[in-house]
Amino acid sequence: MSLLITGGAGFIGSHVVRLFVQKYPDYHIINLDALTYAGNLENLKDIEQLPNYTFVKGSITDSSLLDRLFTKHDIKGVIHLAAESHVDRSIKDPMAFIDTNIKGTAVLLSACKTHWKSFEGRRFYQISTDEVFGALGSEGYFTEESPYAPNSPYSASKASADHLVRAYGETYGLPYVISNCSNNYGPNHFPEKLIPLCIHNILEGKELPIYGNGLYTRDWLYVKDHALAIDQVYHQGENAATYLIGGHNEYTNIDLIRLLCDQMDARLNRPQGTAQKQITFVKDRPGHDLRYAIDASKIERSLGWTPAHTFEAGLAATIAWYLENPDWLSQVTSGAYKSYYENQYKSE
Ligand code: NAD
Ligand code: DAU
Repeated sequence: MSLLITGGAGFIGSHVVRLFVQKYPDYHIINLDALTYAGNLENLKDIEQLPNYTFVKGSITDSSLLDRLFTKHDIKGVIHLAAESHVDRSIKDPMAFIDTNIKGTAVLLSACKTHWKSFEGRRFYQISTDEVFGALGSEGYFTEESPYAPNSPYSASKASADHLVRAYGETYGLPYVISNCSNNYGPNHFPEKLIPLCIHNILEGKELPIYGNGLYTRDWLYVKDHALAIDQVYHQGENAATYLIGGHNEYTNIDLIRLLCDQMDARLNRPQGTAQKQITFVKDRPGHDLRYAIDASKIERSLGWTPAHTFEAGLAATIAWYLENPDWLSQVTSGAYKSYYENQYKSE
């Protein structure tokens, strides 16, 4: 069977593509990715020659391309990860998020509806985020029953996409499943997000920018555990259901970065406290959500998924990967990346 994975050259998508290509040799995995600044085929170098893998460069907003793909291949399922994914970029330029995350999802859904003459054996899987639920206070958890209350242009665009998926299910009977996951970290994470940005900046001797007072809290999940959850939800998840995925692993940003600094000092064989000197408190993110935390009991109970990695193990593996892959890091941080970050804190 052919399975279309969108955004497979990005951070999470590359781990999902690798898992499916290796675990399911009978599936033909088609990776559709526009290769924006966040997409990188180096992420998939080790599997690109495998016979059950095809890469297609293109946008999910391109309906003619989707028509050609759906006509050429008998696509039984779609795992939809392609997105603009960075909250700070969505604050600077919301329109790119509306185009890819909302319009792109709509175009993809329309292709499924047009080309799937029968919905028997088909499935559309929307990979979403816990940010659609807005912000938690200091207590409580997001659950599958939490109301949508997105606060950033990014989360509003993801919420819109989720609603479109659900509407195609209700209106046309499109078989779908949605999962909303907490913050991922791990290898191949683009160094604009907190953890890889700080790893990069520690290595470069640059400041580690902590927004506001640093007491914002996120629930971190190792990316390979997310990929395994996606496999289970795709194959065993109930139709028209939502699953929340999280790591039971809350850290305030400042505690997280202090831990990262200490692990980096240990790995670099230098005195503890060296990297922490680079921590710099900077202007807060507008509309910054205070806290995200997931109650993952539904996926644990119904599908038997739990994260395999502790945070300490996941973080150590992440640091090791960045230290062992300096070429990847220097490739993605050359050119446009440099000018973006040189201008980042100029107004403060
Ligand atoms: P990413 O930014 O690393 O990768 C996104 C990928 O989508 C890139 O390869 C990019 O080239 C591709 N893309 C962008 N626009 C496209 C378009 N118009 N057509 C085709 N491809 C396009 O993102 P990520 O962190 O891997 O996130 C993947 C998905 O998971 C997103 O939908 C995101 O909302 C969701 N998610 C991410 C996290 C997280 O912590 N990173 C958590 C929960 C959910
Ligand atoms: O919760 C899931 C979401 O997690 C995903 O849907 C998003 O795609 C993903 O980018 C991530 O969003 P966040 O905004 O939580 O991740 P980010 O790494 O940008 O920020 C994590 C926290 O760290 C947040 O509180 C903001 C803060 N931060 C971030 C950066 C980049 C800083 O303090 N300094 C920084 O330089």
